[in-house]
Amino acid sequence: MYKIPPGTLFLGKNLLILPECPSTNTQAAELSQAGKAPEGTVVITHHQTAGRGQRGNTWESGKGLNLTFSLVLHPVFLTAGQQFQLNKAIALAIHDVVKNYTEESVRVKWPNDVMINNKKVCGILIENQLTGDRLSRSIVGIGLNVNQNEFDSPTATSVSVHSGKPIELGKLFEELLQSLEWRYLELKKGNGLNHDYLDALFRFNEPHKYILSETEVEGIIRGVDDYGRLVLEIENNLRALDLKQIKFVY
Ligand code: BTN
Repeated sequence: MYKIPPGTLFLGKNLLILPECPSTNTQAAELSQAGKAPEGTVVITHHQTAGRGQRGNTWESGKGLNLTFSLVLHPVFLTAGQQFQLNKAIALAIHDVVKNYTEESVRVKWPNDVMINNKKVCGILIENQLTGDRLSRSIVGIGLNVNQNEFDSPTATSVSVHSGKPIELGKLFEELLQSLEWRYLELKKGNGLNHDYLDALFRFNEPHKYILSETEVEGIIRGVDDYGRLVLEIENNLRALDLKQIKFVY
């Protein structure tokens, strides 16, 4: 079902397909550490048994229903301070593909979730290794809900829920790799992604409720700063917030 993508230059040319594994991020990191995963290596599994999410959470994904895979990248052209650029490129690449499968609103929720309407369809876990001030290695883990229709979490959804029909995983995987490679190479060329990221940003320039330090406030997302912090306007003041400081209210 999964095959080496003919349409990419380097991404997925070294493709490892596992029937089952605990976490493709862990697997990709181990291979890379052992010198067995050149840049562009992709690890994908049909069944991830101990998927890892952001902030120590787990990532649950029904066997054979969704895409769970990891990329090995060497973004040495980015400094530590620029690492959020990679999050932008990855989230946008997925957004661009998912958009083609539904008429519903597909958005990137800061920092890098992909949403359909108000529900999360894709989670991204990027684990960076620095050498000096440069990103020497990034393991980019992607969990995209595709054909799963029932979730424990009320805020999760899948592509097929919104496309109305089951989706061929192999074809979608190939489209994603092409899109991911394109966005990555654009980033490498120095082409800014800021405009596209803001264009795709969930709740950009709209008033909504948020929780900051356990207090509910009304705020308007005005952008993301160079360090990847969310810039929120609250009562005419701009505040730059990191992930620990803000919760979205639905
Ligand atoms: C999140 O919390 O939103 C990030 C979820 C990332 C899940 C993916 S699935 C493939 C890769 N392997 C993992 O263990 N996690 C990532």
